[in-house]
Amino acid sequence: MTTTSDATLEPRPADEWWRSAVIYQIYPRSFADGNGDGTGDLAGVRSRLGYLRDLGVDAIWYTPWYASPLADGGYDVRDYRTIDPAFGSLADAEALIAEARELGIRTIVDVVPNHISSEHEWFRAALAAGPGSPERERFWFQDGKGPDGDQMPTGWVSSFQGDTWTRTTNPDGTPGQWYLHLFTPEQPDVNWNHPDVRQEHEDVLRFWFDRGAAGIRIDSAALIIKDPALPEVPATPGPGEHPHLDRDEIHDVYRGWRRVADDYAEPRVLVGEVWLADHERFAQYLRSDEMHTAFNFDFMARPWDAKELRESIRTTLEAHAPVGAPATWVLSNHDVTRPVTRYGREDSSFDFAAKRFGTPSDLDLGTCRARAAALLTGALPGALYVYQGDELGLPEADVPRELIQDPMHFRSEGVDPGRDGCRVPLPWTRTGSSLGFGPDGGAAPWLPQPADWAERSVQAQDGDPESMLSLYRTALHLRRELTALHDEELTWLDLGGDDVLAFARGAGFACVVNLGTTPVPLPAGADVLLASGPVDGAVGPDIAVWLGLPS
Ligand code: NOJ
Repeated sequence: MTTTSDATLEPRPADEWWRSAVIYQIYPRSFADGNGDGTGDLAGVRSRLGYLRDLGVDAIWYTPWYASPLADGGYDVRDYRTIDPAFGSLADAEALIAEARELGIRTIVDVVPNHISSEHEWFRAALAAGPGSPERERFWFQDGKGPDGDQMPTGWVSSFQGDTWTRTTNPDGTPGQWYLHLFTPEQPDVNWNHPDVRQEHEDVLRFWFDRGAAGIRIDSAALIIKDPALPEVPATPGPGEHPHLDRDEIHDVYRGWRRVADDYAEPRVLVGEVWLADHERFAQYLRSDEMHTAFNFDFMARPWDAKELRESIRTTLEAHAPVGAPATWVLSNHDVTRPVTRYGREDSSFDFAAKRFGTPSDLDLGTCRARAAALLTGALPGALYVYQGDELGLPEADVPRELIQDPMHFRSEGVDPGRDGCRVPLPWTRTGSSLGFGPDGGAAPWLPQPADWAERSVQAQDGDPESMLSLYRTALHLRRELTALHDEELTWLDLGGDDVLAFARGAGFACVVNLGTTPVPLPAGADVLLASGPVDGAVGPDIAVWLGLPS
């Protein structure tokens, strides 16, 4: 499906690499298991760096690899300066960062500022020190409401469903104060009005930047500041009026972080996890003295529908333009349903609240659309995120209920399947007890791999020009080489009506994606550079093509 082209080839510019980078997301527990204990680790990643170089990625973002009780897959950090022993050591991380950089791959680490682990030394000290202590001021400890203090201080609802406050027990066994946790009780929220919290996080940034990290991904970035009056959430909060989401004071924190990042000879990059429906408020995080980029979840949540995706692309680019920040394009991550499964469903949008066991999906259709989506997102201006395993076309796995570990499942009282289905360890080989995830005969992977993943393994796809892996490899290399994709211009083209997304990037390149049912004839003189499926003079339904256009 690949043909050669006359388009000019040029190396990627070295500065502002993040504006158009391809960033591969590694979930360390599930990428590669070097020591055979069933859990992925840094030794495993080090052994697979050549694969990532060949895939054509510019950077790797690691979900948290720090010491953690893993109550929320590592987003409950016990110690930012220690690698969890299940993953390796700090020396392993330093070696990994350096080795990747030698291959031209930068490292982005995850920072989780909203909360820490309940086993972090600060929280243990706060529990031990008791009400009114300075140690408790680093968190949101409150007396309960009601005559016995047995009612929660607020009725805020957790992003993980359920309560956001847990009551402590005093040393004498009597019920004590409550503490705030927007996620699980094992993830107490820290108080960003406290100077220790600000200082500590800036020090953590420096700790990792000094070790060669090229940037950070900021977890739950819009949640960190709370209204100290702790009011209830208004029915329809106006901008900045929500007590724990997107408060105006938040920008001061990220301005401070930007100063830290800019202090380095190669400035470090801030990437925000900002879930906000309001595009203008979203863009405020991307002003020139704040974050460099933020994840575009609007696009990820939309269904496979030309009108919806066009609207998302248009509003995304419009929102980013005034602040001069590049957009990002994200098809999935470790929290959401894999694209192959999602795009094969009747409702192919994504919504956390709608996840249910047994939702049917046509995986052939989903795969066809996921291939087209890979070319669509790969051709858009901005940075591209690829979640591990999407380049293999892995579907969401059905993890047996008794093996599920994700707290989202338990907090929904078993209604929500949770996020483990997209976190199953990768298949590298056709054979072997863990399909090459770990050494043959090692411990079983921490989540079971479906048997039919042997044929989705890297080995099975490697030499197959029709495979998802080959499509990704070719697309990522072409994306780097085609000069037309280096600038940030996009011009919509009218080629075949409302069900077709077609746009030019520069004079000589176009991307056409057919989301309708009628084949779309290729423009006269167009040269097919890459196609997500068979193309014979026309682009069929659910197919995307990259075209070289005559000048
Ligand atoms: C977003 C992360 O991506 C998710 O995995 C985590 O559970 C929450 N933030 C809480 O840290």
